[in-house]
Amino acid sequence: MNERLVVSESELARQRDFAARVRALPERPRSFHVVTMGCQMNERDSETIAGMLVEMGLRPERVRERADLILYNTCCVRENAENRALGNVIWLKELKKERPELLICVGGCMAQEAGMAERIKAMYPFIDLVFGTHNMHRLPEYLCRVLEERRQVVEVAQSDGVIAEGLPQERVSPFSAFVNIMYGCNNFCSYCIVPYVRGRERSREPEAVLEECKRLVDEGVQEIMLLGQNVNSYRGGGSEFAELLRRVDALGVPRIRFMTSHPKDLSDELIAAYGELAHLMPALHLPVQAGNDEILREMNRRYTRAHYLELVNKLRSVRPDVGLTSDIIVGFPGETEAQFEDTLSLVREVRYDSAFTFIYSRRAGTKAAQMPDPTPQEEKTERIQRLIALQTEITSEILSSQVGKRETVLVESVSARDEGWVGGKTPRGHMVNFPGNADLIGKFVRVEIRSAGRNTLRGRQITEV
Ligand code: SAH
Ligand code: SF4
Ligand code: F3S
Repeated sequence: MNERLVVSESELARQRDFAARVRALPERPRSFHVVTMGCQMNERDSETIAGMLVEMGLRPERVRERADLILYNTCCVRENAENRALGNVIWLKELKKERPELLICVGGCMAQEAGMAERIKAMYPFIDLVFGTHNMHRLPEYLCRVLEERRQVVEVAQSDGVIAEGLPQERVSPFSAFVNIMYGCNNFCSYCIVPYVRGRERSREPEAVLEECKRLVDEGVQEIMLLGQNVNSYRGGGSEFAELLRRVDALGVPRIRFMTSHPKDLSDELIAAYGELAHLMPALHLPVQAGNDEILREMNRRYTRAHYLELVNKLRSVRPDVGLTSDIIVGFPGETEAQFEDTLSLVREVRYDSAFTFIYSRRAGTKAAQMPDPTPQEEKTERIQRLIALQTEITSEILSSQVGKRETVLVESVSARDEGWVGGKTPRGHMVNFPGNADLIGKFVRVEIRSAGRNTLRGRQITEV
């Protein structure tokens, strides 16, 4: 079923030829720096972009200003994300005055946005290359053209999206990995631009996903995060998400997580998996967006508050220790004070471990962009502050309730503030800091939780027999 979506082997070979051609150019960039904005999809794409650049003979450069090529992998989900991307790129114009050979590339969701390619052509001639989300796999060809023809290349494909298998990748973490299981989104929530810039929903074949996961396990990866805009609507080779999850679990990777889950498609099989699968972590990101039925309908979310709460109850009866997290939008067009209070009461009822909260941002081309939006911005700001205050209180109560517990932590990093401390996550996803050194990174450590801060826990390493 996927055949017409999957990029052909001959096209991939053609791109490898372009990569070799770039490598052979006497005058070419030697180093690159990728700036990633937006969600995990972009983070994963950046690993592929880095993989292709390495194949073209460039090496990663940690300091952005020192790199010969700077690539922005952009996001446009909210207006401020877009402004930040453009602001950053404009700043590079100054850097380019000092170093005219610097190459500036812009890819990702903002580049794919309707009208953006024309806008960049007209207003930002110092940007060397612009490519969209659907033709990212052709980066070698485009860069080759920039270098050989010494001119701006703007290539954004109008497409429902493709699946490119087998591209090179430079993974950021040796012990934790993102694996795409699907791309795109068909849900068209009325406020959201993602379906327009990421194309239609398309699932990778389960064999391709499993092969990638197996390779990661063989390489020593301890944690796999399965990615999709709505993993619950995964349909690869006839199998559904819960089935795929079962097969990934059987590979034996110590920790499995996934995101994002749309409540309307959260199946009983998936809920049951939380009680059965040994490696599935007790954490679920289940964005509710709003707590009022009318707003949910206007958002085109296709579930009700009651249905959402029922899902939460079912899940907690299967896995009482599950940590729930959410995304919430405040100030959707026409949201009244009473409707907003329904969101507050839902948050009180569910008690999320944490939540990402956003003020509604108008995105051109979406259905909500046409809706009257009379609520003043100050009122929306005041609402989000109330929501954040409530969530902060709940987060801190939940964290405090962890004190005294013994947890297995997968150590991620040395603390930025104190070199004698490391940090990592519990199965539920709480961040714990404890005294330790860099040797522990990528390892599982038993930790006793000693105290709770606003967003993180503190503990100490213990040995158990
Ligand atoms: N596919 C995921 C989320 C993708 S975008 C899902 O459906 O859950 C991440 C979050 O950004 C969304 O959950 C939503 O809360 C927020 N978001 C999307 N569009 C937005 C907009 N126009 N204004 C404010 N927040 C938005
Ligand atoms: Fe956007 Fe809705 Fe799709 Fe999530 S499910 S990406 S919020 S349209
Ligand atoms: Fe942004 Fe694109 Fe993700 S718009 S949130 S980077 S899918």
